[in-house]
Order: sequence, then C-alpha cells, then structure tokens
Amino acid sequence: MPLKPWCVYCVGASSLLTLIIGISLALSNVFPGFLQSRVKTEVVLKNGTEAFEAWADPPAPIYMQFYFFNLTNPGEVLDGERPAVVEYGPYTYREYRPMEEVVFQENGTRVSAVNRKTYIFQRDMSRGPESDLIRTINIPAMTVMERFKDNAVLANLISAYMRSAGIGLFSTHTVGELLWGYEDSLLKALKVLQPELDDVFGLFYKSNASNDGEYMFFTGQQNYKDFARVDTWNGKSSLDWWTSDECNSINGTNGASFHPVISKNEVLYMFSSDLCRSLYAVYTDDVAVKGIPGYRFSPPFEVFANLTLNPANAGFCVPAGNCLGSGLLNVSACKQGAPIIMSSPHFYQADEKFVQDVFGMRPKKDDHQTAIDINPLTGFILQAAKRLQINVYVKKVPDFSETGNVRTVVFPVVHLNESVVIDDASAKKLQLIIVEKNVVENIPFMLIGVGILLGAIFMFLMCRQNVPESTVAERQPLLSS
Ligand SMILES: *[C@@H]1O[C@H](CO)[C@@H](O)[C@H](O)[C@H]1NC(C)=O
Ligand SMILES: *[C@@H]1O[C@H](CO)[C@@H](O)[C@H](O)[C@H]1NC(C)=O
Ligand SMILES: *[C@@H]1O[C@H](CO)[C@@H](O)[C@H](O)[C@H]1NC(C)=O
Ligand SMILES: *[C@@H]1O[C@H](CO)[C@@H](O)[C@H](O)[C@H]1NC(C)=O
Ligand SMILES: *[C@@H]1O[C@H](CO)[C@@H](O)[C@H](O)[C@H]1NC(C)=O
Ligand SMILES: *[C@@H]1O[C@H](CO)[C@@H](O)[C@H](O)[C@H]1NC(C)=O
Repeated sequence: MPLKPWCVYCVGASSLLTLIIGISLALSNVFPGFLQSRVKTEVVLKNGTEAFEAWADPPAPIYMQFYFFNLTNPGEVLDGERPAVVEYGPYTYREYRPMEEVVFQENGTRVSAVNRKTYIFQRDMSRGPESDLIRTINIPAMTVMERFKDNAVLANLISAYMRSAGIGLFSTHTVGELLWGYEDSLLKALKVLQPELDDVFGLFYKSNASNDGEYMFFTGQQNYKDFARVDTWNGKSSLDWWTSDECNSINGTNGASFHPVISKNEVLYMFSSDLCRSLYAVYTDDVAVKGIPGYRFSPPFEVFANLTLNPANAGFCVPAGNCLGSGLLNVSACKQGAPIIMSSPHFYQADEKFVQDVFGMRPKKDDHQTAIDINPLTGFILQAAKRLQINVYVKKVPDFSETGNVRTVVFPVVHLNESVVIDDASAKKLQLIIVEKNVVENIPFMLIGVGILLGAIFMFLMCRQNVPESTVAERQPLLSS
C-alpha cells in the first residue's frame, strides 16, 4: 500500500518551515542578541553580582615581578662610555588589590572606592632574596642635582658635601631598599635646609598597603559600556601634568576590568596612575586561555609614538615642545620632580637610539609588550600582563663634578611585569557560559540541519510515490512498519 500523499506533503511542509525558521533566526541574530543583552544587564557593579565581587576582590592571583639592571661599568660611564647593564630578576611579589571604602552613589549609577595594594614577597618565585645588591644610578642624587643645577652657590655647597660624604652618581642598594625605601644620606643632609623634605627614597616607597587615591567609577547600570569606567580620580575628572586637554583626560577603566560584549574593532581605554596617563589598547589576535576564547588587546605603537607618527602626542612633551622621541614618557612632574622617564621594558617600541645607548637592552615583543586577553562576551580578563620600565634621565650637570663626563642617556633602572591569569574556579564558571553561548548560537543551525534532513526524506518519499507499483510494493513493509 503506498504512503498517504498528505503525509508526504506534511514532511515537505515541516522541512520548509524549519528551514525558514532556522535561517531567519540565524540571520536575525536573536539568540546571541538575547544572550548579550542578558550579560549586559548582569555585568554591573551592584552589591551581590558576580561582576561586583570580582571587581571588589579579584579572585585570580596577581603577581608583580621586578627585573633590575645591575650596572657593570660605573667608572667608564663617568668617563663618557656607554653604560653596560645585566638584568637580574624576577623578584616576585604577590599583589593583593581589594577595592575598599566602597560606597554606592546616586541610585547605583556610580560607586566610589579606593584600591589598596599590598605586596608580599615570594622567595620561591624569585631569583634571589630581597637583600640582593643592585648597583644603579643614584636617583636621589640625580634629582637633587637636577633641582639645584641653576643655583651655583647651593650647587657648589651640595657638591662639596657629596664629595666629603662619598656620595656619587651611582649607588648600590638592596632590591628591597630600592623598591620600598631607604634613608638616603644626601636627602637627610638636605633636610636641615628644607625640614619638610622626606629623607626616605624608594621607587615604590609608601606604595605598599596603601592606595593611589579615591576613584569614582560608573557602575554600568545605565550603559554597559560604562562598566567600571573611571569618572573622577581624587575628585578630578582630568589630570594637569600634560600640556593638552586630550592628553590630560582620564579615559576608560583602571585597566583591571572591562565592559562586556567587546568587538574586535573596539578601542579599549584605560587610565594608569603609575604611568600618570590614560592610554588605549586595540585588538591584535584571537587567543584561548584555559580553553576559553579571548581577544588579545595591546597598546599600539601610536600610543607612545613621536610627533611625526602621532601628532596627538604633542601634549605629552613636557615642558611644552620638549619631545623625547618614540617610546618614552617624561613623568617627572608626577613623581615629585625626580627625572623619571617611563618606557616599555628594554625600550620595546622606542627609538632604536635608546636601545643602542645602553649595552644589554634586548627588546622582545613576547616578553616586553603589554597585553590583555579578554573574553569578548563577558569582558572578563583571562590573562593580562602590564609591562613598564622605569628609567632615569642622566646627564652631565656642570656644577656637580660627581657627574664627571657622563653622556646624556636614558638609564634603565628596573622593569616590571604585573600579571594575572584567570583562576580555575572562575574559568569553570566562564566555561559554562561559553557552552551555553555555543548551544544557543547553534540552535538556528541545528534547525537548518533538521530542515535539510526533512527535505531529504521528503524528496525520497516523493520519488518513491512516483516509481512503479511493483517495486514499491516490495519495499512497502519497511516504510509502513
Ligand atoms: C553589600 O551587601 C552586604 C550584605 O547585605 C553588606 O554587608 C555590604 O555592606 C554591602 N556592600 C556595599 C558596598 O554596600
Ligand atoms: C650587582 O653588581 C654589584 C657590583 O658589582 C654586585 O656586588 C652585586 O652582587 C650584583 N648583583 C647581583 C644580583 O648579582
Ligand atoms: C607590605 O605590607 C604588608 C602588610 O602591612 C606586609 O606584610 C608586607 O611584608 C609588606 N611588603 C613589603 C614588600 O614590605
Ligand atoms: C581620551 O579620549 C578622547 C576621546 O575619545 C581622546 O580624544 C583622547 O585622545 C584620549 N586621551 C588619551 C590620553 O588617551
Ligand atoms: C619619528 O620617528 C620616525 C621613525 O623612527 C622618524 O623618521 C622621525 O624623524 C621621527 N620624528 C621626530 C619628530 O623625531
Ligand atoms: C621632564 O619634565 C620636567 C618637568 O616638566 C622637566 O623639568 C625636565 O626637563 C624634563 N626632562 C627632559 C629630559 O626633558
């Protein structure tokens, strides 16, 4: 007995219907859109949300690693030779950075907080103890000489004192002292003249167990793109160290959180108080961290490029018009007048001149670029490495014989790598969201698949209807069973 025709047409109609639904769902993007809008409403800084918990107390371990440059030829440098340095590191600290004094404002559209950072030394992840000695530029001395260079009387007085006390252009201190502070004999002597002076010097002096000021963040409640975006820092919505409004603006988040639903052509802004400026990162690669897909964002070359390559950087030349070249940032004004120049480690992406000026610089993209791997749906950071180098601008100061015949050089002192990799518990949670996303995104295609299958069955049945009765009869039991 032949199959009832209406039944065959029924299969055909279902095939067509599933195909239409499948294709229109695929084209209209309704399922991914639905998931995205759910993530957008869930990723807000609001007491109780997972995003808030992760923002207030980052679950993944953060490590701060320092690599010091030990000067090997101080005598030659005073005679005008190129400095030769050997890198020692890492000296690793576990960094804890909870948000504290968290207060929600104005119906939860903004939240104020301070970000207290505490550093605990990790001997097992370091090349040596904090008591390792490093010979480098005497930063307090360089700062003092720079400050008094135009006052011949004081300069000669200070220079005489330095000679009698045996203070030179270079000094040797432990890693711990250089980072967290030591009493400096020159500063101590100057304190007699200027009692308000602090006689302790350290690159991260007073940075342990303290915060960099009060932040006001947007919560992302009104617009998901504003999630964790800095509104004001220490009550101000812009900086005043630079010479243009664009350069002084505080843009983006603090670099530790990003808004959800990120696309490849987005520009991610962040403000870094260490670097005394805002910067941005752009998409460079697709990555996977612990099986979770991510986009890698990195600051492009233009961010630190010279004026020919990026005229917008004119505002970072201080004093106005005094530009140092690609890859360098004069942060003197934001570091109490110390002649500090920031760059990428080993002058990565800086002018070749700076690399050549110091023997021992080997810039390498993988080791020295700043990169942030972000899960594009949730905005969650999968892995990040912020890399900086602290340098001192060294030059001959006429009234100070301590500087000898030193050539003008951007002298590297230490470079750091502040990094994080997502913890396993957060990775598991994120994986569930990714699985859900994959399933949901594939529903239209599954429907299309089912439609095609039904279509094939329909064609098959149609052919069967049209073949001679005898052959159909032979196979009939198969179909009607
Ligand atoms: C969040 O809620 C908990 C429990 O209700 C409360 O103890 C805590 O103070 C709240 N935090 C903030 C920042 O409002
Ligand atoms: C750095 O150089 C100084 C002087 O040569 C030396 O005493 C010190 O041990 C060196 N530091 C390291 C970590 O090797
Ligand atoms: C930072 O402060 C904490 C707590 O006050 C202390 O345990 C830790 O040893 C300090 N770290 C350094 C590098 O001094
Ligand atoms: C801050 O953002 C504005 C507008 O997007 C831009 O013009 C300016 O250059 C940015 N500033 C910095 C320092 O990135
Ligand atoms: C900027 O850098 C480029 C390439 O290194 C160079 O050709 C140009 O002269 C530099 N411009 C200035 C103003 O230094
Ligand atoms: C860095 O900036 C400070 C303060 O604006 C200035 O006095 C100093 O000369 C600058 N250094 C260089 C090397 O241009």
